[in-house]
Amino acid sequence: VFLGIDIGTSGTKTIAIDAAGKVLAGASASYPCEHPRPLWSEQDPQHWWDAVVETVRGVVKKVKLKKSDVKGIGLSGQMHGSVFLDKAGKVLRPALLWNDQRTSAECAEITQRAGGRARLVKMVANPALTGFQAPKILWLRNNEPKKYEKLAHVLLPKDDVRRRLTGELVTEVSDASGTLLLDVVKRQWSKTLLGKLELDLSLLPTVVESEDVTGRLTPEVAELLGLSTDCIVVGGAGDCAAGAIGNGIVRKGLVNTSLGTSGVVFAYSDQPEVDPAGRLHTFCHAVRGKWHQMGVTLAAAGSFGWFADTLCQTDGEIAKKKGGDLFEQLVAEAAEHKPGAEGLFFLPYLAGERTPHADPNARGAFVGLTLSHNRGAMVRAVLEGVTYSLRDCLDLMRALDVPVEAIRTTGGGAKSPFWRQLQADLLGAKVYSMQADEGPAYGVALLAAVGCGEFADITEACAATVRTASETKPNAKTRKVYDQRVHVYRDLYRQLKPAFD
Ligand code: XUL
Repeated sequence: VFLGIDIGTSGTKTIAIDAAGKVLAGASASYPCEHPRPLWSEQDPQHWWDAVVETVRGVVKKVKLKKSDVKGIGLSGQMHGSVFLDKAGKVLRPALLWNDQRTSAECAEITQRAGGRARLVKMVANPALTGFQAPKILWLRNNEPKKYEKLAHVLLPKDDVRRRLTGELVTEVSDASGTLLLDVVKRQWSKTLLGKLELDLSLLPTVVESEDVTGRLTPEVAELLGLSTDCIVVGGAGDCAAGAIGNGIVRKGLVNTSLGTSGVVFAYSDQPEVDPAGRLHTFCHAVRGKWHQMGVTLAAAGSFGWFADTLCQTDGEIAKKKGGDLFEQLVAEAAEHKPGAEGLFFLPYLAGERTPHADPNARGAFVGLTLSHNRGAMVRAVLEGVTYSLRDCLDLMRALDVPVEAIRTTGGGAKSPFWRQLQADLLGAKVYSMQADEGPAYGVALLAAVGCGEFADITEACAATVRTASETKPNAKTRKVYDQRVHVYRDLYRQLKPAFD
C-alpha cells in the first residue's frame, strides 16, 4: 500500500492505493487561510502537520492497515509557500502562501540585482512574480530583519511536512522550480542568482528528482501514525505536477486543467521551452528529466467559493429547500441561462492575477449587470469568467505552438459535468474526466509506488493505472459564441486597469 498526501490551501487530503493503483480509502481535514492585511495570505504550518497526522491515521484506520502494510509515502502540496525556520527548526512566522501578493518591491529588487528580466529568465527560466518563494525571503530580510537574522532554512509547504516525517531537509525539482532559485534547465539551485541576491545556499534544502527516496519515517512519527520506520518518503511533487501525473500527463499533446482554489493549465514538454516573454511558467516536471509549461489563474474554484460564501445563504437553507449541495444548486441555476449570461461578465481577479497579467493589483469585477440578472446568471458569469482565464493560459500555449490534442481535468470544479462542457466549449478541445478522480494525492501515491520499485518509472506507472472516465466534446455553436466573447473579456481588463491601480 502507498499513501499520497496533498497539503492544499483549504485542507489536506490523504489517500491509500494498492499496487494496481486502486484507491482503497481517503481522508480530508480542512484549515483556515488568513488574510491579515490586503494582499497578504498566510497559514500556520502547524495546521498542515495536524491535518497530516489526522488524515494518515484516518486512512490507516479505514483500511485497517497493519504497520508494515504501507511501503511508501508521496508528498504533494500548494507550491511557492515559505516556511521560515531557525537553527532549532522552530517556525519563525506564519508561512507566506502562493497567492500572497505583498512582494512587488522585492520582485523589482530581484530583477534589478539579476541585471534585468532577460538575464533573470536565462538563469531560472522565469521572471520574478509576487507569488514565488524567492521574493518572500527578501521580504523577510527587508521587513522583519530580526526574524531574518535567525533564519536558518526556508522550506516549501510539503517539504516542511517531510522534515517532520523524516527529519530530512529535501525538496524535489517540480516544487523547487517555483522558488525562482532553481536553474530549471540544469535542475539544480542557481548559485549565480543566489550570489546576486546575497542568499546563502545553506538556506535551501537538497534538491532531488520527484521519484527519488528522500528518507524514512522517524521512530516517533512511525509510532504516532501507526506505520513502520521502513516506510520510505519519496520526493513527491508540487500540486500542479502531481495533479498532472495523477491524470497521466506524461507525453506531448496532453494538457491538464485543474480547478481548485487556483486554476491551472499544464502542458508536458520534452525540453525546457522557455516563454521569452515570461508569461507562462517553465518548470521541471515530476517525470525524470522532463519539463512542463504552465499558466495559473489565482482564483478559480476560489471565485466560486467566494461567491457562495459572500452572496449566498450558507446556513443550509437552500440545501434543505431544494435537496442537495449548495454548489450543485448554484450550478443548476447557472445552467438555466444561455452562454454569455445575458451580457454579464465576471473578471476572476479576486486575488490579483498571475497568468497572463502578472498583476497583483488586478481586482475582481462583475460588468454588465441589469435589473433582469438573477443569481443564476451571476453564477454562470463567474464560471465563464474563470474559464476565460484558463483560455487566456491555453491561448498563450497555442501561440507558442504547444500541441493541444486533449484536455484532462482535475480539482473540485472538474467534478461538475456543466463546468466540463463549459471548458470544452470555451477552450475548444475535448475534455476528459478521470477514473481515479483524486488529484495531486493520486499522482504522488504513484510516485511512492515507483520509489518502492513497483514500476520502473512514473511513465510506466501512469500507463498501468491512469484511465479516463468521460469525454466531453465542444458544441460548435456555443464555441462560436465564446470565441467572440473572449475578446470582450480580454478588453475589459485593459479598460478597467486604471480603476485597479
Ligand atoms: C501554482 C500555484 C498554485 C498553488 C495552489 O503555481 O501557485 O496552483 O500550487 O495550490
